Formats: sequence, C-alpha cells, structure tokens
Amino acid sequence: MEGRTKQGESIVEETEDNTLTRDVGIIMAAQKVEHYEIVTYGGQVSLAETMGLTEATAILSQTPVEEKETDVRLTEIAKNHINWAATNL
Ligand SMILES: [Fe+2]
Repeated sequence: MEGRTKQGESIVEETEDNTLTRDVGIIMAAQKVEHYEIVTYGGQVSLAETMGLTEATAILSQTPVEEKETDVRLTEIAKNHINWAATNL
C-alpha cells in the first residue's frame, strides 16, 4: 500500500496543478489502491470462511463490496467526465 501511495504522490509531483492529466493520473492511482484493497480484503474473507468464523466472514464480506463500489464510481467519473475532457483539449 505504501508503494501505491508513493505512486500517487509522484503523479502529483510530475504533473501540473489543476490539469486534467493530473486528474486522470490520480483516478488511476486511486483505482490501483481500490483493487489492492479488494484483493486484500477478499483474501481475509476467504481465510475467515475457511476458519469457520461465520460472524467475522459476514462482517468482513462487506468491505470488498464497498471497495468495488468505490472502484465503479471512480470508473464512472473517469469515463463520464475526466477522460473525455482530458483527450479533447
Ligand atoms: Fe478503498
């Protein structure tokens, strides 16, 4: 996760303020974080399930769902706003 954070920071450092290029990069970096979280939390759900921890499985199962929802929202923002604007300057 630290690597993902550093990647996001480097995007900010390497792009100009208030540019669509920066916005595209930040969205992509954020989606990498979400994907990382989906895999990590999904693995935790699988472990809890394997260990027979029914209540923990049920509680932990919500987190990857929320991460997926965030990823979908980021995709919608990128597709419906930022990407189009960034490629039609
Ligand atoms: Fe997240």
